Amino acid sequence: MKHITIAIDGPAAAGKGTLSRRLAETYGFHHLDTGLTYRATAKALIDTGLPFDDEAVAERMALDVDLAGLDRSVLARHEIGEAASKIAVMPSVRRALVEAQRAFSKKMPGTVLDGRDIGTVVCPDAAVKLYVTASPEVRARRRYDEIVASGQAADYDAIVEDVKKRDDRDMNRADSPLRPADDAVLLDTSEMSIEAAFQAAKRIVDAAL
Ligand code: C5P
Repeated sequence: MKHITIAIDGPAAAGKGTLSRRLAETYGFHHLDTGLTYRATAKALIDTGLPFDDEAVAERMALDVDLAGLDRSVLARHEIGEAASKIAVMPSVRRALVEAQRAFSKKMPGTVLDGRDIGTVVCPDAAVKLYVTASPEVRARRRYDEIVASGQAADYDAIVEDVKKRDDRDMNRADSPLRPADDAVLLDTSEMSIEAAFQAAKRIVDAAL
């Protein structure tokens, strides 16, 4: 059986996570949410209390990230996501994490990686590349609903601003900016249910198997 990598990129809160997990389950592939590697690096740096802009220290934290120990429940906090997108502009941090992500992508029988630069930088030879997106307002609404459903208060306008700020930082950085690979299939989920997005993605993967 040939080894397959499915690369899923897109902005924050576009639905990449749910889609990636379902695809990995469906095909029996290993899944890596690469955002967690940036979050784990950021959290390690926050925990040291050392200055945030010291790239050499951040690189050391990135080299120490254990892919097997990544836990979203510990890394989900909003401040960690913000901090992650700040250290994600550092080339030596990216180099360290990309190397670990590439090694992961080779696992048998196949892998699903999701992030911002999987189809463009981490796995440019991936058999399937999806660019999953939705309008900032739709993404903010989904995040708002999630927070409210968990029993917390949320401010929709502040979340829209936040989503736009994160997009701006991720799309306009010099090293590995967020953009669709030339050969990626675009999946705009603004007016799609999760189920419809999953079925569309599954058809694309089935065609590549
Ligand atoms: O997807 P998530 O919100 O967990 O990612 C946190 C941050 O990590 C992103 O805003 C982005 O700046 C960075 N990231 C990245 N490249 C990836 C995955 C995440 O730069 N492949």
